[in-house]
Amino acid sequence: MNDLKNKVALITGGTGGIGSAICDRLAHAGARIVTTYRNEEKAKAWAAERAYDPMIVHCDVGSYDDCSGMKEAIEAAMGPPDIIVNNAGITRDATFKKATPDHWRQVITADLDSMFNVSHQFVIGMTERGWGRVVNISSINGQKGAFGQTNYSAAKAGVHGFTMALAQEVARKGVTVNTVSPGYIATEMVMAVREEVRDQIIAQIPVGRLGKPEEIAALVAFLVSDDAAFITGANLSANGGQHMH
Ligand code: CAA
Repeated sequence: MNDLKNKVALITGGTGGIGSAICDRLAHAGARIVTTYRNEEKAKAWAAERAYDPMIVHCDVGSYDDCSGMKEAIEAAMGPPDIIVNNAGITRDATFKKATPDHWRQVITADLDSMFNVSHQFVIGMTERGWGRVVNISSINGQKGAFGQTNYSAAKAGVHGFTMALAQEVARKGVTVNTVSPGYIATEMVMAVREEVRDQIIAQIPVGRLGKPEEIAALVAFLVSDDAAFITGANLSANGGQHMH
């Protein structure tokens, strides 16, 4: 379907569950892959397991300065990215009563500030070159809210606001910006939810199971292809029918 040969794709948080599947899928389509990491040991082990040769760069996407350093490192090694997948994110789940300012700040910084911090490094260059793809990974819980996730739901709802505004600014320059909102996918993040709570969540998914990371990666691969040039500012859900809108 896709031919991403000669394209450079930056996937933030590419060593995690969904990120890893996105890296593999875009590499399979011919893209050269670069990902950010925070845990060097994990990232090196991850890179060594790949069938291709990804670039890994240390970066806290919540820090603008770190992202500026990442830009220099990537551009020196590979040239500017044509594709950005803003995938890195964290949860700090707690009921509102138990939530702390620190929980709030960590999630807003990692999941929402990162959209600006990373995209701001590269999107202007994309518009100057006349082609680019930005895919922002949000969540079903940014669309419907979730018990214990005031921080995460706020950040993830903000992601799509960012998408819609940026999409309008760059649409005439060959750059599309879209949101993908996964439902509950079988990753470490979802497996960290207590088993009985997770079972209750799965019972609410019409398809009857958790999603697979590869099912999110397939959607991202389509959005970054030339075939998706007319799709911009959209929020595409992949949630097994758990939230329909
Ligand atoms: N709706 C209404 N009431 C609920 C509820 C819900 N969904 N969930 C729990 N409650 C009730 C409980 O029954 C309990 O009531 P009582 O005090 O009357 O017994 C009360 O609220 C407190 O619930 P917990 O015992 O669960 O409280 P806790 O402090 O031990 O745990 C929590 C709170 C950590 C938020 C836990 O409920 C939890 O893990 N919830 C799931 C949160 C979630 O969906 N996270 C998604 C992570 S994956 C992800 O984010 C990826 C993605 O994009 C989808």
